[in-house]
Amino acid sequence: MATIITSRTPHKTLPLIFLILVFLVTIFLFSKRTLDLHLSIYTTTTNPFNPDPQIHKPLILETNSNDLQPVDDDSVLKNQTGIVDSEPVDENPLLQTNSNGSELVKKSVNWGRKCNMHSGKWVRDERYPIYKPGSCPFVDEAFDCQANGRSDEDYMKWRWQPDQCHLPRFDATDFLVKLRGKRLMLVGDSMNRNQYESLLCMLYDSLPNKSKMYEIHGYKITKGRGYYVFKFEDYNCTVEFVRSHFLVREGTRINGQGNSNPTLAMDKIDKSAERWKRADILVFNTGHWWVHGKTSRGKNYFKEGDYIYPKFDAVEAFRRALKTWGKWIDKNMNQEKLVFYRGYSSAHFRGGEWDSGGTCHGEAEPIKSGRIIETYPPKMKIIEEVIQEMRFPVVLLNVTRLTNFRKDGHPSVYGKNVTGIKKVSTKREDCSHWCLPGVPDAWNELIYATLAAQTN
Ligand SMILES: *[C@@H]1O[C@H](CO)[C@@H](O)[C@H](O)[C@H]1NC(C)=O
Ligand SMILES: *[C@@H]1O[C@H](CO)[C@@H](O)[C@H](O)[C@H]1NC(C)=O
Ligand SMILES: *[C@@H]1O[C@H](CO)[C@@H](O)[C@H](O)[C@H]1NC(C)=O
Ligand SMILES: *[C@@H]1O[C@H](CO)[C@@H](O)[C@H](O)[C@H]1NC(C)=O
Ligand SMILES: *[C@@H]1O[C@H](CO)[C@@H](O)[C@H](O)[C@H]1NC(C)=O
Ligand SMILES: *[C@@H]1O[C@H](CO)[C@@H](O)[C@H](O)[C@H]1NC(C)=O
Repeated sequence: MATIITSRTPHKTLPLIFLILVFLVTIFLFSKRTLDLHLSIYTTTTNPFNPDPQIHKPLILETNSNDLQPVDDDSVLKNQTGIVDSEPVDENPLLQTNSNGSELVKKSVNWGRKCNMHSGKWVRDERYPIYKPGSCPFVDEAFDCQANGRSDEDYMKWRWQPDQCHLPRFDATDFLVKLRGKRLMLVGDSMNRNQYESLLCMLYDSLPNKSKMYEIHGYKITKGRGYYVFKFEDYNCTVEFVRSHFLVREGTRINGQGNSNPTLAMDKIDKSAERWKRADILVFNTGHWWVHGKTSRGKNYFKEGDYIYPKFDAVEAFRRALKTWGKWIDKNMNQEKLVFYRGYSSAHFRGGEWDSGGTCHGEAEPIKSGRIIETYPPKMKIIEEVIQEMRFPVVLLNVTRLTNFRKDGHPSVYGKNVTGIKKVSTKREDCSHWCLPGVPDAWNELIYATLAAQTN
């Protein structure tokens, strides 16, 4: 280019220079816009409702003041340009610190330049929990800690506060309005059932007439069943759960002795995928079942095509399975759909594992600082890799760190009713799942924040 510009014909050079300048200014403005005015939730691609399959760049969710500013907001805070400026959290006019030092976030408009929702801290908030313990009929026994005899309540009073922005205050009615005519589906293992029940409770709490929400078959949520559809009559929408422990296909084989043993086909999507197709918004997870005990120690279990590997590494199997999932998403999802992957939720077993006497009993406070995640789980790295390689812009809910602080949030011994029992057995504590109300409520707030940030 330089040689062209320095050519001897000035009457041609000037327009050319002009063009190049225009070009450079355009590029500059474009990249500045991308950096400043958008909310980057996670590094994959563009707005899920409007993805550009060709380009891989950070997932960009446009901020829209109408969605992010609640209607009753003080007019001072409205930014007529439609863009809400990001400010350091401490100087935020929306943050009121009262005399006893507890922070009250009045409104939540502060989505500005890049907000990484996953980096932040838990702050105490007396307005929490979002629904009262005991008020929600969808919490199954395993997560119903207060009813089961847990007496401390502080673990329900924490709100996730990202470092760079404020999450919009959860508004169940607005959530349902955004779901109108749609199907939202959570697909995964019991951790996703945990999140599912939380979401049902958060939405149920807002309904003036509770009988306008029901499971369409009349099912009650238990561990045993793998499919639920809750209908919200006034919003013509459903919130569904499909159990799929591995996202890929479980099967059986008959061994030499005529016994049937479980297998897992890493290259085939789970049978329930036919149901996934019908959803508009999907939230996936898998991970907690990829441990040796549940995968037959990798012996004669993992399968590709017709071949069953005599021995196979579970982590590599996880990678292959997720790739199978990724391919399925790329093939079957279009730009009308929104797909989340909810990342690894931290467990807190002291002095053992889930099946060998590990405990979290008596934890009543989150980890405040310092001791954060030391080793980022290899499975999360795999998820990131797979999502990077995908064409479809999956939104990663990176809850690994925020859950890592919450050693206080697990059922521990309160996964079943222990009131009236003199000596509580601590043989097997649940330090993986979460009490409800509790930590998964915050994951659903992140989903709400994502929806609020992008709908127009
Ligand atoms: C609105 O946002 C623009 C762009 O960030 C900023 O220049 C302006 O000062 C803001 N106005 C108000 C009232 O905050
Ligand atoms: C602290 O602030 C909270 C929130 O305003 C309030 O509910 C509580 O009563 C206050 N506690 C004290 C001791 O002032
Ligand atoms: C738990 O057990 C106590 C005592 O046996 C009983 O009174 C209570 O109703 C039980 N709670 C639930 C939720 O089943
Ligand atoms: C309810 O939503 C479905 C799409 O999920 C749509 O086909 C149907 O027309 C809607 N019904 C009403 C009464 O709005
Ligand atoms: C609540 O909804 C049910 C089912 O639609 C209806 O039969 C009932 O009359 C409603 N109750 C009130 C108080 O509106
Ligand atoms: C997810 O969170 C962890 C812990 O904060 C962090 O190390 C990792 O980079 C995050 N991943 C992404 C893709 O943001």
